[in-house]
Parts: sequence; structure tokens; C-alpha cells
Amino acid sequence: MRGQVVELQPETAADWWEVEALFDLCFAPGREALSSYRLRDGIEPLAELSLVARDAGGVLAGAIRFWPVRVAGRPVLLLGPVAVHPTRQGEGLGGALIRHALGVARRLGWTRVMLVGDAPYYSRFGFTRLDGVLMPPPTNPERVLGLALAKGGWDGIAGPVERWDSSCH
Ligand SMILES: CC(C)(COP(=O)(O)OP(=O)(O)OC[C@H]1O[C@@H](n2cnc3c(N)ncnc32)[C@H](O)[C@@H]1OP(=O)(O)O)[C@@H](O)C(=O)NCCC(=O)NCCS
Repeated sequence: MRGQVVELQPETAADWWEVEALFDLCFAPGREALSSYRLRDGIEPLAELSLVARDAGGVLAGAIRFWPVRVAGRPVLLLGPVAVHPTRQGEGLGGALIRHALGVARRLGWTRVMLVGDAPYYSRFGFTRLDGVLMPPPTNPERVLGLALAKGGWDGIAGPVERWDSSCH
């Protein structure tokens, strides 16, 4: 990372509202109306993977959260939201949050991750379009991206993205 040293730490309960404020600042108003939030409502984010980035003065510079979801009954990581404060963008912090969290996810044994986002940004981490994996409408299918965290992690997995607490089939 360029610029002032920033430390990545697991998000704690004390960070919650500060992280919410950062997401409100970085995303368009009404972010919680997005269909992806219906997959998150009432379900805790994954504590081991949700990180905050603070500078030496303790100022929040970026954050990432992950939720568990299911596709075809199989566990999938849903990456996001991820955001970096506008004054700290372009320093590599977003990339550091994503790479660090994905490394932890691999070590914890997660085999696949998905997100809804811009392919031109996420392709640098290896994300590609997930054909056949359907987010609740009105999501643009071009923005549904996935990455296998273990060889063949997405092979044969298709269908609607469902809440973690949906019944398995
Ligand atoms: C997207 C975001 C998290 C990236 O964080 P960051 O710390 O600025 O990213 P990095 O420093 O790791 O990478 C910067 C590079 O990504 C590129 N980039 C950033 N957002 C991009 C996007 N939406 N599409 C394509 N490229 C993008 C920058 O142009 C820059 O390119 P370069 O390396 O060629 O100079 C941050 O810009 C942000 O918070 N944006 C607003 C919220 C958001 O859109 N979150 C993602 C939801 S899908």
C-alpha cells in the first residue's frame, strides 16, 4: 500500500456504526434497498473475514464485510460491501482488504466466493462472470462475479442465490 501505513484488523462490534457510515458515504443512497441486502437481512456477517483498515491515528480508511449465502444448497461467500474512504482511494487499500480477506477465507476452508460488482475492478483478483448463478432481480447478470478458492470450487454449481438460512436441498 502506498501512503500512510494502514493496519487491517478484524471488525469488532464497536466498529459497526463507523463502518456503516463509511459505506453510506461511499455508496449511492438507498444501498440497503439493493437485492443483495435481502440475502443479508437478519444474518450476521462473517466475523473472521470482515475487516477494518485504520491509519496510524485510528481513522477508519476502509472496510470489507462478507456474508454466507447458498447456491444449489452449497455454501458460498458473498463479498461485500467493500469501500475505501474517498480520500484514501487508489492507494491499494481496497486490493489489500480483498486479498487479505480471501486469504483468510481459503485458510478457513471456503471453496467459492461471489459478489455483485464491476468486472473491470474485480478481474484483477481473478473474479469472472458467473454464468447460471442468479441474484434476485433486478441485478445485472454481467455484474455477478465469482472466484474459486479451491480448484473446481464453482464447477457444476448454478441456480438462484439464496439466504444462508434457506432450507437446503
Ligand atoms: C472500489 C474501491 C473499494 C476500490 O478501493 P481502492 O482502495 O481505491 O482500490 P485500489 O487502490 O486497490 O485499486 C485502485 C485501482 O482500481 C481501479 N478501480 C477502482 N474502482 C473501479 C471500478 N469500479 N471499476 C474499474 N476500476 C476501478 C482504479 O482506477 C485503480 O486503478 P489502477 O490500479 O489502474 O490505478 C473504492 O474505490 C470504493 O470504495 N469505491 C466506492 C464504493 C464501491 O464502489 N465499492 C465496490 C462495490 S462493487
